[in-house]
Amino acid sequence: MKKIIIAIDGFSSCGKSTMAKDLAKAIGYIYIDSGAMYRAVTLYCIEHHLFEADGKIKEDILKHELQNIRIQFQTDPESKRSVTYLNGTNVEERIRMLDVSSLVSPIAALGFVREALVRQQQEMGKRKGIVMDGRDIGTTVFPNAELKIFVTASPEIRAKRRFDELKAKGQTVNLEEIKQNIEQRDHIDQTRTVSPLQRANDAILLDNSHLTIEEQRNWLIKQYQKAANA
Ligand code: DC
Repeated sequence: MKKIIIAIDGFSSCGKSTMAKDLAKAIGYIYIDSGAMYRAVTLYCIEHHLFEADGKIKEDILKHELQNIRIQFQTDPESKRSVTYLNGTNVEERIRMLDVSSLVSPIAALGFVREALVRQQQEMGKRKGIVMDGRDIGTTVFPNAELKIFVTASPEIRAKRRFDELKAKGQTVNLEEIKQNIEQRDHIDQTRTVSPLQRANDAILLDNSHLTIEEQRNWLIKQYQKAANA
């Protein structure tokens, strides 16, 4: 079986990260959460006051400071999960909070941010054997990926999933607020000028609204075997 690149794209809160992580673990591949990279840049901007009171981004300062933003992934020895580090600090939990989620889309719409992160992502895939999830992995980051999956599910189901996830972490959340946040992010992600979220022509569509985790896992492994044996 040859080593391949697996690109998993789709709408937010479709369970992309969970499925990509599981798949990588099952087949011994490296997992990279590209959304975590955009979230880490957003957190940096929050912590360094790069958002004006009206939400406007201080782009010139960010452009200059981008070189000071170091994002790394390390596997936690206990949970065996990939953890995101921002300049040496574990930010895995912090970058999932609602303030980061609300501000990440405008950061991800900045061309110079995307250029810098896409370059890093391409570097990470040089040796193949990688599962990367995001919005533009099959279209921009790895247009030649051997396997591309485009995931979707209804907004109601996605909001409920994110609600359960945040509640389980002990956060006080409101279902309607989450649904609005998801719909707003879908809109920004699909309509931005740089690398909008779109399905690559050769991506396989996966609507997981009514699939169990088990069904989805089996389906993915089958797609991987087909692509790696081709
Ligand atoms: O997958 P996520 O919700 O963690 O992604 C966070 C944000 O980053 C989301 O608004 C879309 C954006 N993103 C992107 O533009 N390109 C990627 N490859 C990954 C995420």
